[in-house]
Amino acid sequence: MNYLITGATGQLGSEWVRYFKQNQIPFTGYGSAQLDITNRDAVKRIMDEDKPNVVINCAAYTNVDRAEEEQEKAFLVNKTGVKHLAEVCSQFGAFLIHYSTDYVFPGKIEDRETYPDGYPVDATANPSNQYGKSKRAGEIVLENSSANWLLIRVSWLCGASGRNFVKTMLKLSEQRERIDVVHDQFGSPSFTFDVVEKSVQLLQKEVTGIYHISSRGELSWADFAREIFQLAGKSAEVHNISSSEFPVAAKRPYFSLLSNKKLIQAGLEPANRKKELNQLIQQIQLS
Ligand SMILES: NC(=O)c1ccc[n+]([C@@H]2O[C@H](COP(=O)([O-])OP(=O)(O)OC[C@H]3O[C@@H](n4cnc5c(N)ncnc54)[C@H](OP(=O)(O)O)[C@@H]3O)[C@@H](O)[C@H]2O)c1
Repeated sequence: MNYLITGATGQLGSEWVRYFKQNQIPFTGYGSAQLDITNRDAVKRIMDEDKPNVVINCAAYTNVDRAEEEQEKAFLVNKTGVKHLAEVCSQFGAFLIHYSTDYVFPGKIEDRETYPDGYPVDATANPSNQYGKSKRAGEIVLENSSANWLLIRVSWLCGASGRNFVKTMLKLSEQRERIDVVHDQFGSPSFTFDVVEKSVQLLQKEVTGIYHISSRGELSWADFAREIFQLAGKSAEVHNISSSEFPVAAKRPYFSLLSNKKLIQAGLEPANRKKELNQLIQQIQLS
């Protein structure tokens, strides 16, 4: 089996790189400087050279706030880039794994009652910000393509590489006694090492279609910060604030829990948040 990773320098892409290296599985991986997925000819050339059986698309435009102003750029990477990969994978007979986000859903607080276990994979996707819209546009491209694909949505992604909430909180805890965190947005983190492990398992099961991978349970960002400090032995205090007290360019979902039901039906156990968080904190502290 030949594997090719796009966005290999990102948070999730680096986890895939780590996985393949640790397991001594041959692969090729490219950051945007080596393979820009918005360039169809470049995608075709590299596919022709590497001849992968499986393409793992970790490339994405992920700056949620900047996407409000850079809509064109966000859509170019998150929609057109996916279109190029899907077309070329179809042409070369390669299987495409693509990642998307909880932000494709509307994120209304009422949805918390409608979907107590989280948005199912087939819930109506109606994103509330430009990043979510661009990611949904990429999903639609994939759904309409003739490639063989697996679409995995993740939420509140965190891993040892790149920027994420866990790393930000640990850093802030070194600088401040009290940290303001929003308490009215609910969801669940996905851990990069769990996402990679489960993606491999789904690949082995030869499933296609849409799956969600997040950890079990639901909590607010403020409670997640408390859990981080408790597990990391930090004394910083978390102060609840509402979303209106933390203005940002892009509207954030109040509710973005992803249902893991389909994952469970496939025979996989959603991650235990505290256990995975503990593992991640150790990885971050060691690095
Ligand atoms: N981060 C989250 O909280 C979160 C939450 C839910 C879902 N997701 C989804 O999870 C997936 C992985 O996200 P992540 O956090 O790993 O993202 P990330 O850390 O921002 O990494 C994005 C990667 O995409 C690459 N990239 C950007 N533009 C590209 C282009 N035109 N061509 C090729 N590569 C390009 C970047 O390369 P350079 O570094 O070289 O620019 C980088 O390697 C994405 O699909 C994202 O939408 C993320």
